[in-house]
Formats: sequence, C-alpha cells, structure tokens
Amino acid sequence: MQNPAWIDGVVVELSSAKVSLEDRAYLFGDGIYEVVRFYDRYLFFLAAHLDRLENSARAIRLLLPYRKEEITTVANELINKSGFENGYLYLQVTRGSAMRDHLFPESTAPSMIMYVREMPPLAPLEQVKPFHLVALPDERWLNCHIKTVNLLPNLLARQRAFESGAAEAVLYRPGGIVTEGTRSNIFAVIEGVVRTHPATNLILPGISRQIVLDILVEQGLLFNEVAFTLEELQKATELWVTSTNMEVNPARSVDSLILPEPLPGPVCLKLMKEFRIRVAANRNRMEK
Ligand code: PDD
Repeated sequence: MQNPAWIDGVVVELSSAKVSLEDRAYLFGDGIYEVVRFYDRYLFFLAAHLDRLENSARAIRLLLPYRKEEITTVANELINKSGFENGYLYLQVTRGSAMRDHLFPESTAPSMIMYVREMPPLAPLEQVKPFHLVALPDERWLNCHIKTVNLLPNLLARQRAFESGAAEAVLYRPGGIVTEGTRSNIFAVIEGVVRTHPATNLILPGISRQIVLDILVEQGLLFNEVAFTLEELQKATELWVTSTNMEVNPARSVDSLILPEPLPGPVCLKLMKEFRIRVAANRNRMEK
C-alpha cells in the first residue's frame, strides 16, 4: 500500500480515503491533530505527542475515541504497511460528523484518522540551510497551546512570510513580545543566555522545544524560559526554530537583522548534533 490511511478502524489507500462532508473538522475546524516523525521506522517521541493530543482533547472537551496503546499499535502497523523507512504520521481527532450546528452534537462519537507519508530523514549537518525569517503580528487566539486544526492565522502568516522570501515568521504579540513561529517554536541567544517563550496559552508546547530544553539542561547551557521582545531580538547572536518537520534549524536573518557568523552559531550547532544523537538513540526506545 502506497500511503496507508486509517479511518476509525478501517485501512484504505490515502488517495481513496473519504470522510463525511459534515465532519465537524471540515465545517468548523472542530478537531485536534498531531504530526509525529518516524526515523528508520521508529516513531520519535510518540508518547509525548499522545500526551499532548490528550491535553488538546481535554481542552476542547473531547474524549479520545481510542486508548493510547491502541493508537500506538495502529500507528506502527501503518508504518509497516507503508514500507517507508522515514516519514511522518498524521493523526487527527474530530468531534465527528453531525448535522451542522454550533452546539456539540449529543449522540455523535468522535472520529479519528491517521495516515503516513514518506519524508527524508535529517539532512547531514553541513546541508542544513540557515533561514531568513520575517517578524509578523501574531493574530491567533488565546489558546495556542491547543493543537487544533484551526490554522488559518498560521497559514496566512506563513504565506505572507513565504511571499517575502522567508521560510518562517517570527510572530509577536502587542509590545513586540515574540511568541513562536507559524509552525515552530523560536529560540534566541541574547546576551549569552538562550531565551524562549514560556509554555503558556500563547504558544504550542512543542515536543522538539522540550527536547531542546532537555539538551540545554543536560549540557549545562544557560537558558531562561522568559519571552523576549523584538527590541531584545536586535541583540541576538543566534536564533533557531524547532519543530517536528524542521527539527532544529538556524536562522541567518530576521527582517534587516543579520545574525553573526558562524552559522549555525555554537549553541545551535551543539543542539543540532545532540538532536541527531537522540534520533539515533530512538531506535533503542520502547515505542515499538
Ligand atoms: N507544527 N508551534 C506551532 C504553532 C506548530 O504548529 C508546531 C508544529 C510547533 C512545534 O511543535 P513540535 O515540535 O511538537 O512539532 C510549534 C506541526 C509540525 C505542523 O503543524 O505541521
């Protein structure tokens, strides 16, 4: 099977998979999701992603229709069926399909889909290209910790960033407070200290963000989960983004600010190396 998909217990080829027009994620964006990488067929930090999925479900008052163990089994089966060595698992839970009504449907069971896609593994360090980023206002709601499929403000910002030649946006709230990217978390080294927005309702608590924080602790590197402003960013000596898709990727510039050479800077380079060590060590984890 090319790209196996799973819809509430039934496995089909992704291109012929069908969901209802009245699915509430389709009509209202009433759903949550996760994207999980697998390397050499092993899911990377699946348990952490499933914990976050559970938190998102609770936050939107949805009960996950399957237990984490069941989801894990299905996820591994999909990877085995696909034959892909490296790729990602997409997983989405919606409030189900019901006649359109803003109120939650009373007798509709939540629906869950999963599918896998192939994606190349981590690029060798020397092939990672430092990004250009642009600062854009964060126009999202106040529950950004929920990984909901309501991504329109993220898409609009990402498109604007792309059209101005940037790979990602540095989103900021009033007062110039940097929150995160459109699909990533953001870190900067300012006056020798690694800074990133705390895991509040204003950002998604990224799994890659947490991996990086754990590496910083382990390596004894100075960091502070205190938000920085666009003004403080002018003093940054390093900046990078973290996400499941981009792993740890350095920036070379933000608007007119050019980050100093070498690129990646010393802290980012260390994190990139350590991240790769964790990917390699993942084979020995208990997730399969
Ligand atoms: N996005 N912040 C936002 C808004 C995100 O959408 C993402 C991930 C992250 C990074 O989280 P993690 O390290 O757990 O991937 C931060 C996913 C990958 C996506 O929408 O494709």
